[in-house]
Amino acid sequence: MVNKTILITGGAGYIGSHTAVELIQAGYKTVIVDNLYNASLGAVDAIGEITSTEPIFYKGDCTDSQFLKKVFTENKIDAVIHFAGYKAVGESVKKPLAYYKNNLDSTITLLEGMKEFGCTKFVFSSSATVYLDENVVKYNEKTTKTNRPFSPYGTTKLVQEYILQDTALGEEFESVGGLQVVSLRYFNPIGAHSSGNLGEDPNGIPNNLAPYITQVAVGKLDSLPIFGADYSTPDGTPLRDYIHVVDLAKGHLAGLDYVFKQSGKFFDPINLGAGKPVSVFEVIASFEKAVGQKIPYKIVERRAGDLPEFFADCAKAKEVLGFETKLDLDSMTADSWHWQKTHPNGFSK
Ligand code: WQD
Repeated sequence: MVNKTILITGGAGYIGSHTAVELIQAGYKTVIVDNLYNASLGAVDAIGEITSTEPIFYKGDCTDSQFLKKVFTENKIDAVIHFAGYKAVGESVKKPLAYYKNNLDSTITLLEGMKEFGCTKFVFSSSATVYLDENVVKYNEKTTKTNRPFSPYGTTKLVQEYILQDTALGEEFESVGGLQVVSLRYFNPIGAHSSGNLGEDPNGIPNNLAPYITQVAVGKLDSLPIFGADYSTPDGTPLRDYIHVVDLAKGHLAGLDYVFKQSGKFFDPINLGAGKPVSVFEVIASFEKAVGQKIPYKIVERRAGDLPEFFADCAKAKEVLGFETKLDLDSMTADSWHWQKTHPNGFSK
């Protein structure tokens, strides 16, 4: 048993729930907080089943300071992993105010609570969307950050990083010895837990490639729209860095170890990716192997904001975290399909 208690905000969500499983199995005491806006209690039940534990779960909102005060009062929290936030790119374009209000207010209110209770270890769920340098496709942590991500969602990630950096490196937490933050910049998480009982369960029509494909394969959607096959890439479709969600979850344990070793004023961004560019057609081919049938698709117009190619330089994660991915694309698609096939309607019965 690791004698440390970790608060996971958004812990019933896709990446949060997979991280909760790994934390519990690594012996951490885990407190899950989620407002269930884009998550299900079914995920909390699945965490309990997989780990044979009774998860500590609070339903509530990170913008609610009184709610957070209750959580910090009832549990001695040693570190926070902050996933909670709205994350749909398209929705953020339609509802920017809701995105800025929720995502920024959650982080600020959480930091205020942490300071009040002397909790100084913070692992942040960030995103490669903070980068945008047309001149490179392999992003390292020094790659130019865009000053204007394509979507309000992406801008909330960028601004949250600045909030964390300024708070950690300024005087705000001096009274409690300083704030130590590691900001994990994800590339494209896909896949599901090998049990088949935990996976991605998007609201409505999926925005992202993998859940769209599995919903086609399970018969919920007719065919996959491929947003352009006329890019200057090997097969014409865009390239992305797909990382298995279980590898990503394990990357958070490595990030937690790293932040526990720090003291004083500390902020460090680290990419979490596989470091391998993979095309849409390659993802489809891998899913067809897993599913055992063709995935019907239709090539349509490009999607606004899509880049031809970007992927992670993983050298820093290897060097400072000792982290590298272990699961390949076929594991990602096989585990995704296992989850979707056994849970055609996700967690809803
Ligand atoms: C991948 C590729 C599409 C759907 C987004 C967010 C990013 C992060 C990960 C949160 C692209 C193509 C997709 C479809 C398609 N999210 N595609 N048909 O856009 O790389 O990143 O998710 O942190 O912030 O921007 O991921 O899965 O949407 O798209 O052809 O129905 O699949 O064009 O090339 P993306 P994605």
